[in-house]
Amino acid sequence: MATLAHLSDLHLGSSASAARTLEEAVAALADTELIVVTGDLTENGRTAELAAFDRITAPLADRLVVVPGNHDRCGDDVGAQLMRGVRVDVQVRGGCSIVRIDSTAPHNRVPWLSHGRMCQQVLEQVDVALGAVPDSVMTVVALHHHVVPLPAEGFWEQVSEVLHLPNHSELALGTELLKVLRSRCDLVLHGHRHVPRQFIVDGDSARPLRVFNAGSTTELGAFRTFDFAGGRLLGDPRWHQVTPEPRPSPQVWQAPVCALQLA
Ligand SMILES: [Fe+2]
Ligand SMILES: [Fe+2]
Repeated sequence: MATLAHLSDLHLGSSASAARTLEEAVAALADTELIVVTGDLTENGRTAELAAFDRITAPLADRLVVVPGNHDRCGDDVGAQLMRGVRVDVQVRGGCSIVRIDSTAPHNRVPWLSHGRMCQQVLEQVDVALGAVPDSVMTVVALHHHVVPLPAEGFWEQVSEVLHLPNHSELALGTELLKVLRSRCDLVLHGHRHVPRQFIVDGDSARPLRVFNAGSTTELGAFRTFDFAGGRLLGDPRWHQVTPEPRPSPQVWQAPVCALQLA
């Protein structure tokens, strides 16, 4: 059996407590085989903020998979270097294949324009990538932005929703991505929205597709882990609190599982 941890939306540079909470999480992950961080590693996309991420997570470096978030594209655009110029690739770690998708775009250099972008070409690249992964291998897709509509969080997202701006929206091809992934992938891990969520596609099938939003690890002071063996997930994920007090209450972590129907 092996364990995967999902962290996201660290926003290093936003506060001293963000770095402290990440340090506590890294200490808790000493024996975890695979750690996926789904973007917004930094608050302002600055080189010094990414250097802080690299320094704090150095003990996990050989087990770490990251994708960029919209905040990483601001400032010095450190997000651009995280994917080394590709939109999709596959990394194999700890007996698991992780398909990384860059859902950010140049418009994210403007902090207000936080929404993601996914084009048909990316879907085709994901399709090809999955075709090279044997069915027997645990398969994870990692990206930053949400793939299905989620409730607006905070004043500015509510303003965006009222004005029908794209800023708060899910990825335009998010549902199409899930159609490409169904029956070929076990987990979709994302962030961007800071409240955790979970969904399931084809829940009665032999290989359901489960979609998890980590929320902001440094705001929550907590992260999920997933156990897997024989190429498949084992049961439900578990939450791990790394701060002395829950922030906010544990009820926020325990989002109900919503079934998604794909046409
Ligand atoms: Fe974020
Ligand atoms: Fe984000």
